[in-house]
Amino acid sequence: MPNALCRRLGIAHPVLLAPMAGEASKPALATAVSNAGGLGTLGCGYMTPQVVRDTIRAIRAASDKPFGINLFLPLNWTADPAKMAAYRGMLAAAHADLGIAEPDIPNKFEESFIEQFAVVLDEVPPVFSCTFGIPKPDEIAALKARNILVVGTATTVAEAKALEAAGVDAIAAQGAEAGGHRGSFLAPVEQSMIGTMALVPQIVSATGLPVIAAGGITDGRGVAAALCLGAQAAAVGTGFLLADEAGLNQAYRTALQGEGVHDTTLTRAFSGRSARGIRNAFLEKLAGSGDDIPDYPVANAMSRGMRAAAAKAGRAEYLSLWAGQAAGLARAAPAAEILQRIMAEARAALVQDL
Ligand SMILES: Cc1cc2nc3c(=O)[nH]c(=O)nc-3n(C[C@H](O)[C@H](O)[C@H](O)COP(=O)(O)O)c2cc1C
Repeated sequence: MPNALCRRLGIAHPVLLAPMAGEASKPALATAVSNAGGLGTLGCGYMTPQVVRDTIRAIRAASDKPFGINLFLPLNWTADPAKMAAYRGMLAAAHADLGIAEPDIPNKFEESFIEQFAVVLDEVPPVFSCTFGIPKPDEIAALKARNILVVGTATTVAEAKALEAAGVDAIAAQGAEAGGHRGSFLAPVEQSMIGTMALVPQIVSATGLPVIAAGGITDGRGVAAALCLGAQAAAVGTGFLLADEAGLNQAYRTALQGEGVHDTTLTRAFSGRSARGIRNAFLEKLAGSGDDIPDYPVANAMSRGMRAAAAKAGRAEYLSLWAGQAAGLARAAPAAEILQRIMAEARAALVQDL
């Protein structure tokens, strides 16, 4: 075990499967990474509390290795009727093109964090990580009372310091390269665009906590660089999206393997919150509509029907193709093989004569 964080986590390799809520959030992916010596972390933010429970139990049934569970902390949001009506209009053409019923207003926009969190306390996963804020003091205390390691996500030095003051055990330092939604909570995502190379060493220097580097780390060269910057581990997200166990729909897989993979951008078009994905027709069409798109998670819930139908129909132009800036290095293989190759590359990169 290369360092104190890996010893605390009980992992042989300083690599985490980054939490990725949605399609890739499958117990088989987490257990494959954990069984291969990394830390499989699952993004459970979109799961009902019962599915969170089933997921934790499925991981435990398939592996006795450590793993992590990640939740979205609740955000303040408004279901603005005017914006919802405008957004329905923006979705309508896509629904017609996909041959599905007109967009509706869902009766629920997000799962209950309180209920999801109660399941976490009940099931006691070895690691709890979270994004979009700072857990409340009683929540951190309850996790620590159960010896659950608490990881908070920071996209700026100020966020890392705030998380440290709140008592988390480790910081995921998430650079602007990262795929999907980023955790920014003190300033908007668009104003928190610090690259991983600049963010990681500053958070290492500014806090006394172990740091997990995330964002644009897809192969072993990235992991080696993260360790050189002072991180004790690297979280690889996009680099595992093509793993067999992720079982992504074919249109998403094809997009990750095409030329467009080098053109990722930030968009609010699919969810109402800025997230990084491969540029496609839907996000281009909504590029100037920012102010008319409802808040996350309202827009996210409203676009779910379009995205599900597009996945079935193989229509990448209507999918949220979340991917980080180094997505062009992602490989299609079993997750254990991806991890082994990452480790071999990291070792090779670290043994260099200068
Ligand atoms: C498809 C996808 C879904 C994600 N979902 C979550 C999530 O549920 N919780 C979270 O903390 N981060 C989430 N992220 C961010 C990742 O945990 C991680 O920080 C990011 O993938 C790192 O950048 P990379 O994609 O370049 O490896 C997601 C990223 C992707 C690509």
